[in-house]
Amino acid sequence: LPCLRSYHKNVVDHYENPRNIGSFERADNDVGTGLVGAPACGDVMKLQIKVDENGYITDSCFKTFGCGSAIASSSVVTEWIKGRAIEDVVKIKNSEIAKHLSLPPVKLHCSMLAEDAIKAAVKDIQEKREKAAAASGSAA
Ligand code: FES
Ligand code: FES
Repeated sequence: LPCLRSYHKNVVDHYENPRNIGSFERADNDVGTGLVGAPACGDVMKLQIKVDENGYITDSCFKTFGCGSAIASSSVVTEWIKGRAIEDVVKIKNSEIAKHLSLPPVKLHCSMLAEDAIKAAVKDIQEKREKAAAASGSAA
């Protein structure tokens, strides 16, 4: 992969040793799933979070079908979001991810995918919890 030489060491590190690859059971009540695609290149990223009763992320994993920058971006955010509150992680900007990985401008959409995936995963768990709350409310 000679082209990897032009990537920053953080990209190569996360590309070669990605953290937290995997899947959680999508239907589980404590799991939020964010599945997003980049229209520019067709790459797809799935980011999942496990969220406790207080809204803190206890675990996170990803599966990304995409370029090295997208894989590195997903790997980085799974590390960043663990232990943090869901209201907090939706503030993570793709520019922070891009800066950490020193992504060139043509690769900014790869880090954008990771920002979108976090937001989608949080939205998913919030909707699940609202539904559950509504269901228990109507039963009471
Ligand atoms: Fe460089 Fe695929 S073209 S990693
Ligand atoms: Fe599309 Fe990286 S080239 S996500």
